[in-house]
Amino acid sequence: MPVVDGRLAVVDALPDDPLLQPFTLKHLTLRNRVFSSSHEPAYSEDGMPKERYRLYHVEKAKGGIGMTMTAGSAVVAEDSPPAFGNLHAYDDAIVPWIRRMTDEIHEHGAACMIQLTHLGRRTGWAQDDWLPVVAPSPLREPAHRAVPKEAEDWDIDRIVGKYADAAERMQAGGMDGIEIESYGHLFDQFWSPLTNRRTDEYGGSFENRLRFGWRVLGGIRERVGPDFIVGIRMAVDETVPGGIDAETGLEIVSRLEADGLVDFVNVIRGYIATEPQLINVIPIHGMPSAPHLDFAGLVRSSTSLAVLHASKVDDVATARHAIREGKVDLVGMTRAHLADPHIVRKIVEGREAEIRPCVGATYCLDRIYEFGEALCIHNAATSREETMPHEIPRAPAARRVVVVGAGPAGLEAARVAGERGHDVVLLEAMPWAGGQVRLAARNPRRRDLLGIVEWRVGELARLGVDVRYDVLAEGGDVTALDPDVVIVATGGLPQLPEVDAGAERMVTSWDVLGGDVTPTGDVLFFDDNGTHSALSAAELIARSGARLEIVTPERMLGIDIGGMNHVPYARAFNETDTRITLNQRVLAVRPEQGRLCVEVGSDHSKHVAVRHVDWVVADHGTAASADLYFELKPLSTNRGAIDYAALLGGRPQSLVTNPDGRFQLFRIGDAVAGRNIHAAVYDALRLLKDL
Ligand SMILES: Cc1cc2nc3c(=O)[nH]c(=O)nc-3n(C[C@H](O)[C@H](O)[C@H](O)COP(=O)(O)O)c2cc1C
Ligand code: SF4
Repeated sequence: MPVVDGRLAVVDALPDDPLLQPFTLKHLTLRNRVFSSSHEPAYSEDGMPKERYRLYHVEKAKGGIGMTMTAGSAVVAEDSPPAFGNLHAYDDAIVPWIRRMTDEIHEHGAACMIQLTHLGRRTGWAQDDWLPVVAPSPLREPAHRAVPKEAEDWDIDRIVGKYADAAERMQAGGMDGIEIESYGHLFDQFWSPLTNRRTDEYGGSFENRLRFGWRVLGGIRERVGPDFIVGIRMAVDETVPGGIDAETGLEIVSRLEADGLVDFVNVIRGYIATEPQLINVIPIHGMPSAPHLDFAGLVRSSTSLAVLHASKVDDVATARHAIREGKVDLVGMTRAHLADPHIVRKIVEGREAEIRPCVGATYCLDRIYEFGEALCIHNAATSREETMPHEIPRAPAARRVVVVGAGPAGLEAARVAGERGHDVVLLEAMPWAGGQVRLAARNPRRRDLLGIVEWRVGELARLGVDVRYDVLAEGGDVTALDPDVVIVATGGLPQLPEVDAGAERMVTSWDVLGGDVTPTGDVLFFDDNGTHSALSAAELIARSGARLEIVTPERMLGIDIGGMNHVPYARAFNETDTRITLNQRVLAVRPEQGRLCVEVGSDHSKHVAVRHVDWVVADHGTAASADLYFELKPLSTNRGAIDYAALLGGRPQSLVTNPDGRFQLFRIGDAVAGRNIHAAVYDALRLLKDL
């Protein structure tokens, strides 16, 4: 159970803050109103919440959160193949893992619940036990693309029992309650006329469509007893013609309440069968803040059930507003806690300005499908709690550290070195910090990325780091500072693709994003990179009125961009009739009658086509900008070498290959090789935390 002392300590600190008021739900008193809604970060191992999973949630409990809701779609049956690393709630082996996690979360004063589900058609068949996907009707979900079998009577009976079994396991594991997922999964696939075309007693009329859900909840209640907390996370309004509308949704809520089946409703507004629909439920950067909060308030005004809600409440002011105005009882700050698990503690300690902001990049969610684990774009400690600290301990002795380059890698290096208590100087060639992040934020839709820079600049000021702008550092500038350690984080510069002829006639996506060129007329964009810099520049060109064709050698557009981030690009290219050419690459560019003649070929055949355009823009990633590093290398004790065994083992760097050297030298981020923001901050954190 949540620790009473911890709760009182929090409430006493700032008695007037609406966010810090306790909340009682049945037997459970939460120490404040902030929760993390269920989300599957795909940290499970063999379907179990082992070390990594547990530490991730425990960190939020340490950080003062009222309640952390675990899993996200923990699956109750084997024929709900885990689409994104879901926990196996159908397996008895999970109980001790759950018990260990709930015990530790409770020790740190937070409450803990879990979400249970059967994914129905929202998964694929080619994983785990390879059982066929099952749904009320054999209708394919566009996002996951499995063609489901229509659930038979024996499937329904079996799955109803599976829900109750799983709920009992979670109760045995010490959960404070459970939540049933009811948006886009089997449970509400029965409810919604969009997914239920049955003609038996589970389809057709409203009552028939509700029957499966009522059997599930009734079965759970019977098994766990009247005191255990059972909630529902439900699409109260699917917002799709022919689906559950708000009136119907509110009617369902009122029936659930009247029948005593649930204790809270966690409000969802929207539908998630396609990615464009999903980002309306889980908005990414460039979209409005808290778009469904007023709707959650409407639900709250029509029920006496406790109302929870999460959807892009990513800052404390909005969360506070949500509680103060009575929109919800508990406000979800889910991705916000991936970015900073210590939000509540910082509020309590009067350190709100130090909260690392969630910038809505949704790298976290996109990664569960792309690479099988959620990572925060600019917090490399999240989910690596075993090895990476959220709070950087001070070093035994202060050293003089010179960091060159104030892009994400250099900023993070200077921040971590400052937290270690070192004497830090940060040199930056430009009059501002940010490097490529600042360039990326030139797309107005991606402006929030600046939070990655601004938070660090604020932290550097707090830590007393000496930041010097307009210094294009050469070796002498660095050695004059008499450093013990030099970190070169000078980033990269755009490189042109290798073509047979005419590379010099191309401009780069940096030229476009930076505003140095404005391509007009017919524009061919050669995306030989597949990530944001390319599509973001292409988006600006498409929206500017130019006639755009994107040519890429890949088999899909934006191959390194996840599904949710893909949506605004696809929308821009769709609305501007941008031509997209896959599996092809630019071979040569030649001048011709004042325009450019472009030869376009393919890795797949010898066929060559020709385009006549006004501009060719290319993105071939960046080349390391490392002249300074190579200039300093002979002067360093380690000749720039990183002892990878020490780095990965969490030990300080102690290689000495040049005893005459004057300082240790390390190169991080894109100055090593072009990668991304997360790689840059991870490079910096894991090296500097042991310095
Ligand atoms: C990595 C990740 C996985 C998620 N998985 C689930 C899930 O399994 N079930 C669910 O109901 N919501 C899931 N969500 C949605 C979150 O619970 C939450 O609704 C969403 O992130 C919006 O809230 P926020 O803006 O506070 O982050 C997931 C979110 C993330 C970031
Ligand atoms: S990746 Fe972006 S959206 Fe996800 S938690 Fe980090 S900052 Fe927030």
